Amino acid sequence: MSPMPETLAEAFARVQEDVDAAFDAYLPVPQDTRARLVEAMRYAVIGGGKRVRPLLVCSTARLFGVDRDAAVAAGCAVEAIHAYSLIHDDLPCMDDDDMRHGKPTLHKVYDDATAVLAGDCLHALAFDILTMPGTSSDPFVRAELVATLAKASGHEGMAGGQMMDIVSDEEQYDIRQVTRLQQLKTGALLAASVEMGAILGKVPPEGRTHLRAYARDIGLAFQIADDLLDVEGDEAKAGKALRKDEGQGKQTFVTLMGRDKARAQAEMLVDQAGEHLSSYGSDAQALVELAHFIVKRDH
Ligand code: IPE
Ligand code: IPE
Ligand code: MG
Ligand code: MG
Ligand code: MG
Repeated sequence: MSPMPETLAEAFARVQEDVDAAFDAYLPVPQDTRARLVEAMRYAVIGGGKRVRPLLVCSTARLFGVDRDAAVAAGCAVEAIHAYSLIHDDLPCMDDDDMRHGKPTLHKVYDDATAVLAGDCLHALAFDILTMPGTSSDPFVRAELVATLAKASGHEGMAGGQMMDIVSDEEQYDIRQVTRLQQLKTGALLAASVEMGAILGKVPPEGRTHLRAYARDIGLAFQIADDLLDVEGDEAKAGKALRKDEGQGKQTFVTLMGRDKARAQAEMLVDQAGEHLSSYGSDAQALVELAHFIVKRDH
């Protein structure tokens, strides 16, 4: 008899526990003056965040029977990039935020220099993890994981989107440019998470079409949901300051289309995302539920 499928809440709880344990093992605190740096890295990656990206890696990898530890390792790599992006995003030179994951931002607890360095080190850690034999015994798989995450992190991905976001107060973006901004800033790492699950599963690129279509849709929906949360969310639940985007001149789907149309767009994208996975049948249930969580979430 096959085991009962996990509920989404159980899947989140398990991945949160596994990711915390893995980062604890990756980051022993050295007994010298670098201790502050590693403590700051631990502050950023242990015990906070929903872990949507690792769950995407694990749920995709599971479709192809990938070993759980390998999927968690790849999930930690994406999460390390995500955590670094948030540390830098919160700095005074970027969004200048004081709260993240319901606690003070890293630069508030430490200082700006430590925050920059902790981000740098999490960036490096991500690729270190992907080259470890425990992530995959196949060097070609490891190389493809590295290339995929590198592209999704740099100027063709997250950091490029952050640049477009930062200058958005001086530019008049249309819907196409905002879509591009969101796809890079947020969509790229979410798409990389799905792609990395498929890479671990040794799915050839031509077999990833439906997964890529799913990932593109949820990536966009995820940032629309974040922008809606900024307007109508509860700060205590979100664990971060809200109602900031408009004051900072950020251009989002919400500022461009209004809340109702933005919400309708996000819901349409999530339905479409689920349809892209129809050929996987009930095996893709976890990914379909995760897509719906993305627009319904309150944090
Ligand atoms: C927040 O991402 C920043 C965006 C890319 C929108 P998440 O909402 O995934 O952040 P945490 O890690 O779960 O707090
Ligand atoms: C940040 O987007 C996305 C990153 C790449 C870090 P936001 O600036 O909207 O994220 P929050 O609202 O601070 O989490
Ligand atoms: Mg930002
Ligand atoms: Mg921000
Ligand atoms: Mg935001």
